[in-house]
Amino acid sequence: MQRILSGVRPTGGIHLGNYLGAIRNWVSMQHQAQESLFCIVDMHALTTLGETESLAENTYAIAAAYLAAGIDLNKASIFAQSHVAAHTELSWIFSCITPLGWLNRMTQFKEKAGKHKDLACLGLYAYPVLMAADILLYKATHVPVGDDQKQHLELARDIAGAFNRRFGDDLFPIPEPMILGSATRVMSLRDGSSKMSKSDISEYSRIELMDNADALALKIRKARTDMEPLPEKFSDLEGRPEAQNLVNIYATLANMAPDAVCQQFVGSNFAPFKQQLVDLMVATIVPIGDKMRQYLADKVMLQKVLTAGARRANELAQSHMQDVRRAIGMVAL
Ligand code: ADP
Ligand code: TRP
Repeated sequence: MQRILSGVRPTGGIHLGNYLGAIRNWVSMQHQAQESLFCIVDMHALTTLGETESLAENTYAIAAAYLAAGIDLNKASIFAQSHVAAHTELSWIFSCITPLGWLNRMTQFKEKAGKHKDLACLGLYAYPVLMAADILLYKATHVPVGDDQKQHLELARDIAGAFNRRFGDDLFPIPEPMILGSATRVMSLRDGSSKMSKSDISEYSRIELMDNADALALKIRKARTDMEPLPEKFSDLEGRPEAQNLVNIYATLANMAPDAVCQQFVGSNFAPFKQQLVDLMVATIVPIGDKMRQYLADKVMLQKVLTAGARRANELAQSHMQDVRRAIGMVAL
């Protein structure tokens, strides 16, 4: 039995990395799972948001993106993390069994906290514990994410193991990370050594799902490449991170192997390749953006989706929290 859970933070324009690294895989996995839960992790967004005025709008936009990408409400629930209070309850319980040493190893905290670690908030430090609670609250078995979440998922597995050992019962299944496809880490279009991200200050670094055809063409035309022609094999792109990234994106969008993309363009420079990549994106990404705009124009419908999702999520959460209280030895009503 598969129970899938995953999430995206509502911190800005949802982008091609979120889509190819995560959401596209959810769409194909939802059909074989018994239950799927797709969360908009707004409590996690608080850890890095200086200002929160666009939090609601971003939350609607992520819900619209899930629907536009093909999440099927007959198979899955879409809900906001802040509508299920049990995420933070379970997170507190986990924070009482998680050694500080485990959290000190987390590389995302080191990256996001920057030089002045003492000024970083407690929430940023505890972020991976809340993420473990997101997953284990629903006894999720499979977690489809991009490659950057590997370490957080390892921690979630460790926390599940620690809880099971300490309180018996094998209450939590050990969740499996699902890091699928050839675009598990989509890189910035301006710098092949950093990942495409909502928080990059340069808009030209990322393709957003709501970009129109002109914006998309401009960003791809401006994407950094090198002067060498494309080789016959993907492995010959070693040391050319920007070229590797574009070939990977092409391969994933066209459902081809990266080697097959190289063979198709072998000997050519980047201009014709980029033109075809733009055509491919106009055919695959622009329709998603168009649907997002339609959904976003109907907030009443999106509210209904979030309300129904929260109802289902709370139902599961309440029942599992009773199991947790019982296992720990608290009074379970
Ligand atoms: P961001 O880092 O852009 O703020 P999130 O942290 O909300 O995005 O990530 C949501 C999901 O998208 C996660 O599963 C994450 O692994 C995936 N993801 C984010 N950026 C990328 C990327 N550049 N390549 C592949 N997957 C990504
Ligand atoms: N930490 C994830 C990210 O930055 C988002 C996230 C929060 C998540 N809770 C989750 C992903 C639970 C999968 C499952 O991308």
